[in-house]
Amino acid sequence: MKPEFGKKETNLKKALRLMDKATSDLLVLPELFDTGYAFSSREELAALAEPFDKSETVSELKKYSRETKTVVIAGIAEKDKGKIYNSAITILPNGRKHVYRKLHLFYKEKLYFNRGNGPLEVISYKGMRIGVMICFDWIFPETARTLALKGANIICHPSNLVLSYCQNAMVTRCLENRVFSITCNRVGNEDRGGNSYNFTGFSRVIAPNGNVLAEGSKVKEELKAVDINLKGAEDKRITSLNDIFEDRRIKFYNIKGKK
Ligand code: ACM
Repeated sequence: MKPEFGKKETNLKKALRLMDKATSDLLVLPELFDTGYAFSSREELAALAEPFDKSETVSELKKYSRETKTVVIAGIAEKDKGKIYNSAITILPNGRKHVYRKLHLFYKEKLYFNRGNGPLEVISYKGMRIGVMICFDWIFPETARTLALKGANIICHPSNLVLSYCQNAMVTRCLENRVFSITCNRVGNEDRGGNSYNFTGFSRVIAPNGNVLAEGSKVKEELKAVDINLKGAEDKRITSLNDIFEDRRIKFYNIKGKK
């Protein structure tokens, strides 16, 4: 998608139009898909962020999820108790919802958003064991690793990528964890308030062996659908003698963290 900054209703309608082009079990939208990205102040962000229980976007996505029996994951700015998070909501067809608040904020997000508190959790639904992370979380391999060690078989990754490394790096994230990933990245650019961002597109669905199963355009808005067999994420062996989880030498990795 190419969200228009601040036009929540327009962006939501556009997303719903794209979403109607196929049916699926699991659907991922970009990070901050209804607000756009290039905030220039905390006040501007505060005017667009919403508590999820009062959000028109969330209630429309819930309706879509219930009617089409699709798990929907969407990046949305979330207001909660005076804080504002760069969040991703996971909506299940049975009405349940889970919220992930971005742990690793990128660049000027640090000026406007509160640092998120996760959680890195696995959401189980009809054989899917879904882990969620957002955009810049990719550069901290601990994020995908933690989700995979907790049992995720598919990592969903709403994004607004501006650096050019992630699409290829996600091949490694999938290989080193033997999981599927869906990176849904926005396209287009935003130039406002002295900030200019070019978003890199090329959304990808990647398999545990690193194969790219689907790839979006660099510039075009579109919906891509692909069939995957989640059994591919169950076997953590990379040779008959190497299980990438069992072979970890955890005691050698034990560095005391500060934060
Ligand atoms: C990013 O985390 N939106 C680059």
